[in-house]
Amino acid sequence: MSESPRHRVIALINQKGGVGKTTTAVNLGAGLAELGSRVLMIDLDPQAHLTYHVGIDPAAIDQSVYDVLMDPDVDVASVIQPISDRLFVLPSEVNLTGAETELVNEPDRQKRLKSRLRPIVDQYDYVLIDCPPSLGLLSLNALTLASEVIVPMQAHFLPLQGLSKLLETVQAVRQNMNPALQVTGVVLCVHDAQTRLAAEVIDDLKRFFEASRPMAMPWSNAVVFDPPIRRNIKVAECPSFGQTIFQYAPHCPGATDYRQLTASIHGVPAAAPAPPPPVEASQPTPDASADPVPPQIVVNPTETSDASTDQSPLAASD
Ligand SMILES: Nc1ncnc2c1ncn2[C@@H]1O[C@H](COP(=O)(O)OP(=O)(O)OP(=O)(O)O)[C@@H](O)[C@H]1O
Ligand SMILES: [Mg+2]
Repeated sequence: MSESPRHRVIALINQKGGVGKTTTAVNLGAGLAELGSRVLMIDLDPQAHLTYHVGIDPAAIDQSVYDVLMDPDVDVASVIQPISDRLFVLPSEVNLTGAETELVNEPDRQKRLKSRLRPIVDQYDYVLIDCPPSLGLLSLNALTLASEVIVPMQAHFLPLQGLSKLLETVQAVRQNMNPALQVTGVVLCVHDAQTRLAAEVIDDLKRFFEASRPMAMPWSNAVVFDPPIRRNIKVAECPSFGQTIFQYAPHCPGATDYRQLTASIHGVPAAAPAPPPPVEASQPTPDASADPVPPQIVVNPTETSDASTDQSPLAASD
């Protein structure tokens, strides 16, 4: 294990599909391992794209994160697969789809991942959780285990809309389940720097995070990470070869961007220690079995989140 004193559990989450979650999880994980950290990537998506991306055929493995969640007798260490000396994966497979319905009546349904991973999580400097494109029970398990959230997204108007809902969910989980949870930042993926819309969206995001600095919100320290990950065909090609961008095309723009992004994220100070646990929850715990985001949870504690509030990432730019 490396000498790093830090231990960071990062959920890469965005309920919108195809925004770069898996690509960022794999290449950030590989980049952090290149820097000397010991990294576990958890594929928490039934699509198993991360598992494929690192060259593992989900059909060829005996057990996956599904078994870890559903069977208390499974030894999680035996399910984790090494990718290199310092990079490891807890793989997924398609039957993970069933976990959401199978867990629905379990009292610990949001804490399963956390309790199952507890014995091994300290063995890694970084644990990166690749979430599915939804805010259902699997994502809530990721947010309950995580200390940090990183949001991969594209600098378009519609993905920005989804950010409000995601931040509401993070806030709900922090209030009810995980007081240490914080949003570290946004990674802009598949980025087309020349477009005016992209520049406007980045400005909106930066203003939104700046305005939240004095508030005690989970995203009060969040940043828009630099650099954005440029659209680059090599990044799209490398999953087919079961390789990270650093293996497939180590000098391409995508590798350069992911290397710099890794350094930016590695340089973020470790999260502050968890505040004391919340007193008796005043709001229902978010739960995929019912409404995953209680409607009374709002991004701005004083106003409902809608396009007219300053604190909403939907705030229109001129
Ligand atoms: N910088 C980039 N340049 C070009 N293509 C990219 C880049 N980043 C990601 N892609 C491609 O965009 C697609 C979506 O990326 P990815 O699978 O990482 O998104 P995702 O958010 O994990 O999707 P899902 O929600 O389905 O899990 C993939 O085909 C990927 O190869
Ligand atoms: Mg994905």
